This record gives sequence, C-alpha cells and structure tokens, in this order.
Amino acid sequence: MPGKINSFVPEGEIQAQKAYAALAKEMLIRRYGRQPSAFVHTYGCQGNVADSERIKGQLDWMGFGFADSPDDADLVLYNTCAVREHAEDRVFGNVGALKPIKEKRPDMIIALCGCMMQQDRIASRIKKSYPYVNIVFGTYALYRVPQMFYEYLSDGKRVFDTAPGPEAIAEGIPAVRDSGARGWLPIMYGCNNFCTYCIVPYVRGRERSRRPGEILAEAERLVGSGVKDITLLGQNVNSYGKTLDAGVDFAALLRAVNDIPGDFLIRFMTSHPKDCTKDLLDAMAQCGKVARHLHLPVQSGSDTVLARMHRGYTREKYLSLISYAKQVMPDISLTSDIIVGFPGETEAEFEDTLSLVAEVGYTSLFTFIYSKRPGTPAAELEDPVTRAEKNRRFKALTDLQESIAAKNRAAMNGRVFRTLVEPGEEPGMLMGRTAGNVAILFPGDPSLVGSFASLRVTEALNWIVKGELVLPAG
Ligand code: 5AD
Ligand code: SF4
Repeated sequence: MPGKINSFVPEGEIQAQKAYAALAKEMLIRRYGRQPSAFVHTYGCQGNVADSERIKGQLDWMGFGFADSPDDADLVLYNTCAVREHAEDRVFGNVGALKPIKEKRPDMIIALCGCMMQQDRIASRIKKSYPYVNIVFGTYALYRVPQMFYEYLSDGKRVFDTAPGPEAIAEGIPAVRDSGARGWLPIMYGCNNFCTYCIVPYVRGRERSRRPGEILAEAERLVGSGVKDITLLGQNVNSYGKTLDAGVDFAALLRAVNDIPGDFLIRFMTSHPKDCTKDLLDAMAQCGKVARHLHLPVQSGSDTVLARMHRGYTREKYLSLISYAKQVMPDISLTSDIIVGFPGETEAEFEDTLSLVAEVGYTSLFTFIYSKRPGTPAAELEDPVTRAEKNRRFKALTDLQESIAAKNRAAMNGRVFRTLVEPGEEPGMLMGRTAGNVAILFPGDPSLVGSFASLRVTEALNWIVKGELVLPAG
C-alpha cells in the first residue's frame, strides 16, 4: 500500500558518507601522526548498543582503532540514554570528568550522541555549559558521522547535528561488534505508542521497519561469524512490518530467521502486551530456535494505572497472554519491566502490582521508580506520593521478586540445562546462560566460551546458581 511505507536513506547518501570518511581518515592521520583511537561508551538499552555498533562501523571507515578507556583515547564518544533522569545525570557527571583530560590533551575529540542529545533542552545545555564538547548529534543523524567529523576536522568549529528527522532507515553501515557470541539485530526503529511516562517516541520518532531481506542477510552474517544468540530488537516488535509492503509480520519474520541453517538461539525485545497475540506465541512455540524466554513488560498490575499510562491493555488481557504462553510453552521463562510510583499511584494500585507479580512468577524483573521526563504527558500529572514511600514500595516489590526468583532457582537444582558459555568473572570460572536467561557459574576451560554446553545445576544459592559441565556440547 503506497503511502504507508517508511523511507530509507538513499544508497548515494551512504556512498557520500564513505567519501567523507576517506577525507576524514587522511585528516586524522595528519592530526595525530598515527592511527587514532576511539573510546565508545554506551548508556541505556540494547537499541543503543546496536546503534553504537554502527557508529563504530563508521569510525572504522575513518581509520579509528578502539581503546578500552577514555584516558588515552583520541576520541571519546558517549552514546546516551534519556529514559530516566538518573541515566542523564550519569552522563553529565562523566562528561564533566573528561574536562581535565581534555585540558591536558587539547587535540582529543569529545562527541556525544543518542537519545539525550535529541532533546533541545539537553543540546542547549551542552552548547552553553560544556564548551569542550566538540561534536553532538541525535538519533536521526547516526548515519552522518563521517560528515560531522569531516566538518569538525576542517575548521575546528563545534558541530551540532540534532535536528529531528529524517525518519529514514539507513542500510549499508557495517556493525563493529564486541558482544562475542551474542548479537543484537535491530529490525525496527522508533515508537508510536506514546505511553504517558516515556520519552522514547519524542527522541526516536515514528515507528519504521527494516526490510526483511536485509534483516535476514544480517542474521545470516551473524550466524556465519559464530554468533549463537541473536536478539531481534525494536521498541514494539509485534508491530514489525506495518510500515512496509513486504507482506511480512513479526511472526513471519521470526519463522524466516528460524529457518536459517545453523545452531543458534533467537530472542526478541521488546514485545508490547497491547500487540502481543496468540499467533505470535504459537509461532514462538513452533520455532525450535526461539528461546523459551518472553520479555513482556507489564509496567503495572493495576487497570487504573495502566489506563493513566496509556498502555492499551488491562491486567486481565495481560494475564490471559501469560497463561496462554505457559500453556503452549510449559518451560517458558518470563521477565518484565515495572514502574513503581507512577504519578498518583495509590497503595491499593501498588498492591495490584504485587499480586500480579506473585501470580506470574517471573524469572527476573527490571524494576524502576518513576522518573519525570519533561515534555511527556505524565510530567503534568499530580504526584503527591513521597520519595520515601516510593522507595518503600520499590523495596517491597524487589523483596517479593527475590523470594519468587529464589524459589524458581531452587527448582533448577539437579536439572540439566543447555547453555551458551560466556567468560566468568573469577579465574577458572565460566558462565553459562540458559535459554531462559538464567546465568549458571561453573568451572571450565576458557576454550568453551562462545559454544553451547550442557550444565547440571549443583547449587542454587540466593543470588547465584552454580553448576558443572555434563557434556561439552549437546
Ligand atoms: N520512569 C521510570 N521508568 C521508565 N521506563 C521508561 N520510562 C520511564 C520513566 N519515565 C522504564 C519502563 C520501560 C523501561 C525500558 O524503562 O519500564 O519498559
Ligand atoms: Fe534506549 Fe529509550 Fe534509553 Fe533511548 S531512551 S537509549 S531508546 S532506553
């Protein structure tokens, strides 16, 4: 259906960026007299991690190598998150800490990008109060990194590229990944939901989908390069394809990725309960490579809070999806996001959240205290509940979840799980991640990292699950 289709950055524009990158590369070599190095740090969600991988792809075009710390990097780039005030405060703190480094090494370049920079009030604050920051760009300018560097290197003037739009998908930028056997694969960008607390629709624009051919080709490349755990990313993966004319919805995409040959797991994030259907849960159940793990953010267990949040579903609809998921996938691992202390949340409304959490039995929860985001509708609501009371509710929720998780972990004792092995934090120890996203610590040879291994759980302690190797691969 023409008119519905989201736009794409023209191929010629990406070629133009490659030409800028070639010019910037020569200028950088002249500036530093050697290969320059970049330290890229990412705040926020996996969507941001995936964006950083493509920013690094462009830095690679410009000849940058990558450093592990800002201390001796020629470029420090922070990809920022706007979802809560705390995340923003951390960025301001860390940018402040760069000032003495920049004073010692004036030819170092400082760049800030991402969701925070897409807000006018933040970009103006950086312009005014952080004069040593050289390059600032928002979410829409992500594919123009070489051009911004070329402009900055040409005359040394600060570059701010934070205009909203175009809302177009840029293909053809390679991802430089550092996530080992796990790979992030964006399938769509933006969000149309406008939950009343959330800044994302304002900083990432309207929903748009990548074409299935490009997603499948990238999934094949990831599998070919040894990735064993692929997460399909989008703010609301259930509405994948609505702005394309490809005749492919999310369930169909999932089946197509599942058909790619190879031994790997598929996950997806985030699924919105409003658009999650039995069809999707059936597709999950039928696809052997899709991890039996569903992250379905509920945000609150109270119908009145859900309505004030503009979530578009009720507690009953959410619970019926959960019970269907458990019916078609008895071993499903469920996780969720919850906001405590949404403006005007009463004690009774909060208790509805507690009872929902008890009823579902999540493997783990991401819990947040409501953070006021200027410009969102919820920022205008009366919020009489004190911070101390919100903290009390937060603790009551995390205590409840901890007791549920402890029971779930105890039930793992003695059972064998197929896991993907990641490096451990202690010498001699590795970590196996189950399809349900539970980490099991075990002693093993580092050569196992990046492969599947079957582990028997030997000890399920309060926070830690320990295990032993059953078979090297199975
Ligand atoms: N305050 C607190 N938590 C928030 N989230 C999004 N916006 C806010 C906010 N203003 C949480 C939601 C979302 C997760 C990514 O972050 O739970 O699912
Ligand atoms: Fe991700 Fe949202 Fe944070 Fe942007 S604001 S990085 S989309 S969580």
